[in-house]
Amino acid sequence: MNTKKEWVLPNLKEAQKRTKQQVLIQRALFEVPEAARNCGLNKKFYLRTYGCQANERDGETMAGILVQLGFTQTEDEEEADVIILNTCAVRKNAEDKVLGELGQLKRLKVENPNLILGLCGCMAQEEEIVKLLLEKYRYVDLIFGTHNIHRLPSLLLQAMSGKERVVEVYSKEGDVVENLPTKRFGKIKAWVNIMYGCDKFCTYCIVPYTRGKERSRTIEDIVQEVEELKEQGFKEVTLLGQNVNAYGKDLYGERKFAELMRKVALTGIERVRFTTSHPWDFTEEMVDVIAEYDNIMPFIHLPVQSGNTEMLKIMGRRYTSEDYKKLFDYIVKKIPNCVFSTDIIVGFPNETEEQFEDTLKMVDYCKYDNAYTFIYSPREGTPAAKMEDNVPFEVKQRRLQILNEKVAGYAHERNEKYIGKILKVLVDGPSKKNDQVYSGYSEENKLVNFTADHVECGDIVEVEITEARSWTLNGKKIDRN
Ligand code: SAH
Ligand code: SF4
Ligand code: F3S
Repeated sequence: MNTKKEWVLPNLKEAQKRTKQQVLIQRALFEVPEAARNCGLNKKFYLRTYGCQANERDGETMAGILVQLGFTQTEDEEEADVIILNTCAVRKNAEDKVLGELGQLKRLKVENPNLILGLCGCMAQEEEIVKLLLEKYRYVDLIFGTHNIHRLPSLLLQAMSGKERVVEVYSKEGDVVENLPTKRFGKIKAWVNIMYGCDKFCTYCIVPYTRGKERSRTIEDIVQEVEELKEQGFKEVTLLGQNVNAYGKDLYGERKFAELMRKVALTGIERVRFTTSHPWDFTEEMVDVIAEYDNIMPFIHLPVQSGNTEMLKIMGRRYTSEDYKKLFDYIVKKIPNCVFSTDIIVGFPNETEEQFEDTLKMVDYCKYDNAYTFIYSPREGTPAAKMEDNVPFEVKQRRLQILNEKVAGYAHERNEKYIGKILKVLVDGPSKKNDQVYSGYSEENKLVNFTADHVECGDIVEVEITEARSWTLNGKKIDRN
């Protein structure tokens, strides 16, 4: 690979480092160079986002920038002038999907040499992936990372006007950049970043390297954003961070998530959610605030990862299985109607059958309403990737299957308890499968399909539950006169 002088390439060693350098709140960093103004007139962009909500939210920022440059968005990649893949690196299969998609897109690039093919997001932060792209996927025109989205106008202009590929990925996080354009993809529910990055360094996880150190936005900026969303008619906000419990620590010297939640609740927006909260550092004050405000939803995603204390230690999770159960019990005591989901990894290096069984026992204990379950995937640069692993892949697959069956059983059992109950549902619109039926989410984050004469998107209606499946509830709207 010939490395071009002007390329800024990602560097794993840099990404692993943490510095004490102060993070600034930048309010005027975004600019559109004169020559880039209107560079998208009569042109279309296609944006595909993989991965978590943080990436979704970044996608909205990129769309906002592209619209400001004059582009319109298309859902059809065949007619696009610019294609951007906003990627995820959390597991190998996430990456494989993107590489497969790139293979498919090569044809469009051959048919239309003016097409700009861009790749950004967490894969762009990986040294090895960018090397691979530069060597084997030479038709990718533009690569940029998670820390320089605000640079999109200049980078795109460069890609559109030159014959050279453009690569700019910062390994070290930048400042907190405010005042970026945004094109929200929904009208009712919005994502609101409260912090970026992660400093937990769980031993299997690549996120601290792709997203940099924890950087909080100010309480005032977040509350103002929620107030604006409320004025625009949004009904629900989800406060986003890789670990929201840590909110404020970097900026204020102390954790302030409970205070932030309280202030967001007091804006009066109908529904407040948050994700993700690490079980470590989930304070009693946080639980109390969730319990206190009716508009903070009784739903907590509480990733356990494993039910075995020794495994948790090797994973770097900083809590024991007993700590987790204690927290779980405390939340249930204070918020009896609280619904829980979780994340679980099976087949971590050298996981024994007994350790796996402890995970099953944890599922028996918590009877989660939902669990996202994964086979461990080694990630370059993480400590776990260097561990020898004596667990054959077939064993991991079997464990996943056993776990999934258990999870589905409890999900169904939990859902059956709602039959005959009335839930408040925020209407998303007609259901995907049947336009005579509406769908939406209840306060407990249950997907509810229901019959009604007529309801509008964004209405909050009362639905009596008549049927329970593992992952959805069915019901009918009740009318009170
Ligand atoms: N910040 C969030 C998680 C983000 S990643 C949290 O800590 O809860 C989402 C989930 O992906 C993790 O909870 C974990 O279960 C899973 N995950 C992360 N790295 C993984 C890996 N290397 N292999 C398999 N699953 C992984
Ligand atoms: Fe990854 Fe752990 Fe950070 Fe979550 S808390 S993003 S699992 S390092
Ligand atoms: Fe994936 Fe990056 Fe999110 S790795 S899960 S898109 S932070």
